[in-house]
Amino acid sequence: MRTDDQASRLRQLMHETRQTQTIAVTSGKGGVGKSNIALNLSILLSASGRRVALVDADLALANLDVLVDVNVLANLSHVIAGTRSVEDIIVDLPGGAQLVPGASGLAKLAELSEFQRARLLNDLASLEADNDSIIIDTGAGIGPDVLQFAISADMTIVVTTPEPTAVTDAYAVVKVMHKKGYAGQLALLVNRATDRHEARSTYQRLSSVARKFLGAKVLDAGYVLEDPRVRQAVQARKPFVTASPRCLASRCLAAVANKISRKSTFVEQKENFFRRVANWFA
Ligand SMILES: Nc1ncnc2c1ncn2[C@@H]1O[C@H](COP(=O)(O)OP(=O)(O)O)[C@@H](O)[C@H]1O
Ligand SMILES: [Mg+2]
Repeated sequence: MRTDDQASRLRQLMHETRQTQTIAVTSGKGGVGKSNIALNLSILLSASGRRVALVDADLALANLDVLVDVNVLANLSHVIAGTRSVEDIIVDLPGGAQLVPGASGLAKLAELSEFQRARLLNDLASLEADNDSIIIDTGAGIGPDVLQFAISADMTIVVTTPEPTAVTDAYAVVKVMHKKGYAGQLALLVNRATDRHEARSTYQRLSSVARKFLGAKVLDAGYVLEDPRVRQAVQARKPFVTASPRCLASRCLAAVANKISRKSTFVEQKENFFRRVANWFA
C-alpha cells in the first residue's frame, strides 16, 4: 500500500472510530442494579481501549459517586445553575473512564427553563466529541425524564431481575419505548439471576411476549448472576470489576461488554445525542 493510501485509510479509520455510541441503562423497577451495571460496564469498555464517559442522569436518585470513591466537588446541578461547565465537573474513574456526577432531587428536565435545558444539553454534547461511548445511568420507570434519554440513545439496556414484578415493569418500559417508535437497539439484561437457566428463561419470556403482543424486537444483552461480591464492592465503594475482577458478576459483565463491543450498535441519526434529547421538548 502506498504511504498516502495508508494515511487516508488511517484518517478514515479515525473518522469511523470517532462516531460516538450512546448507551442508556434503564429499568422499570428501581433497585435492580442499573447503576452498578452502568458503572462497571463503563470501566470494562474503557479497559478495552475506548474513551468512555458515564453520565449520572438519574435526576431523582443520583448515586454513582457513592458507588465509587471519587472526590466530587460539583455536579450537574452546578451546570444547570450555570456556575460550572460539564468539563469542570468531570472526575476520573479507576481505569480511565470519566464520570459526569449527577445530583439527587434535580428539577425535572421538563421543568427547567428552555435556556437552562439548552445550556445543559449543549454542554453535555461536548462529551460526544471526546468519547467513543457515552453510558447514561437513568432513573427507573417510564417518566419523561427517563424516556427522553433512553429514546435518544443508540442502544437502551433495560435491566431487570428475574422477579415477576421487575419483569412486568421492564415490559412496561419496552412497551412505551416501542409505542414511541424507538429507532435504536433495545436489549434486556437480566441481573441477579441464580443461574444461567433462570437468566435465559427470563429473557425468553419477556422477548417472546414483546414479539407476540407488540411486534417489538428485544435483543439479549446477557446476564449477571447473583454474587455477594457486588454488595461487598458497594460497601467498599469500589466497582466490582476492579475489586474482584474474577468474581462471577465480573465474568458475566465481561461477556456483556464483549457483546456490546462486537455489535454494531449505531443507528443512523442526523443529530447528536443530546440534541435529540433537547428536541424531545420542542
Ligand atoms: N448481581 C448482583 N448480585 C448481588 N447483589 C446485587 C447485584 N446487582 C445489584 N445488587 C445489589 O443491589 C443493590 C442496588 O443496585 P443499584 O445498582 O444501586 O440499583 P439501581 O441503580 O437499579 O437502583 C446494590 O447495592 C447491590 O447490593
Ligand atoms: Mg441507580
